[in-house]
Amino acid sequence: MKYDDPATLEGVGPAIASKLRSAGITTVEAIAVTPPREIAEKTAIGFNTIIKIAAAARKSLDVDFITAEELWKRRQNMLKCSTGSKNLDELLGGGIETQAMTEFIGEYGVGKTQICLMLCVMAQLPAEKRGLNGNVVYIDTEGTFIPERIFEIANALGSDPHKTLGNIFLARAYNSSHQCLLIDSLFKFCPENNVKLIIVDSMIGHFRSEYVGREHLSERQQKLNNLLHKLLRLTEAFNLPVIVTNQVQANPAQFFGDPNKPAGGHIMAHACTHRVYLRKGSKGTRIAKVIDSPYLPESSTRFKITEKGIEDVQE
Ligand code: GTP
Ligand code: MG
Repeated sequence: MKYDDPATLEGVGPAIASKLRSAGITTVEAIAVTPPREIAEKTAIGFNTIIKIAAAARKSLDVDFITAEELWKRRQNMLKCSTGSKNLDELLGGGIETQAMTEFIGEYGVGKTQICLMLCVMAQLPAEKRGLNGNVVYIDTEGTFIPERIFEIANALGSDPHKTLGNIFLARAYNSSHQCLLIDSLFKFCPENNVKLIIVDSMIGHFRSEYVGREHLSERQQKLNNLLHKLLRLTEAFNLPVIVTNQVQANPAQFFGDPNKPAGGHIMAHACTHRVYLRKGSKGTRIAKVIDSPYLPESSTRFKITEKGIEDVQE
């Protein structure tokens, strides 16, 4: 897919085009989906000019009113990426979806990072092998990306491990503002590098450790919200899936059942399209349960973590 240069829009001369470019807004899609105020802050282009350019961008993309039929067609372009486990794919309605953000939630050691690493390999496979035929961006906030594990999984799946590693663009985010900068840069980076999957592992770790205490909660949630919406815009602008991981926190109000709840509160809950809760099952298996989704049923399945990455449990 080719993305149009903003210079093709009416009202965008060379000076404006170059301001947009240096702010990382390099496609018509990015102009159409970024709030005008944000473009203004980044580019020092006048607000009224931006409103006009944004309108021209939306017009050229036909994104104002569309019929439900057109939406249906757009969603037919939705692609699915296999997780390596048939059962997990089925739970997710056929795999990890593009135009959507999927969140994996669970306590430490449950396998969130392992799923992310597996998807790094799967996303590169061609469509007939249920991949997305593209490259991967991995934003690692905890330093737990392990290239040796990618090597092992790629080998086990019959992919060239060096080529697989070469197609993963890794960024170590050192704090939440660095994480924001990295995500901002993706509007430019993704179309230029055939990126078909974005992973943020973990979405919330830095926010939790930097904004401690009630008095910082609303600022934290506002920043988190802003970032999550950028990720959602990326899913739509470039027809790709975003995967985020999230930790659990103790919920003192819970007397029965699982005493943990996802971190990030309502902001996380609303922004993520599909939420999948992971926990440990018997004999080293893992249980995945859809806990919130606009159309996936709330069901659960089991998978296991093996040398090949993620696999079905043989019942
Ligand atoms: P946090 O990031 O700490 O919150 O945990 P996480 O949910 O990301 O856990 P992670 O994905 O790192 O899972 C770690 C678990 O995966 C380990 O406890 C192992 O059970 C399993 N695992 C990791 N590597 C391998 C491997 O090479 N082979 C097998 N069979 N299992 C592995
Ligand atoms: Mg992890």
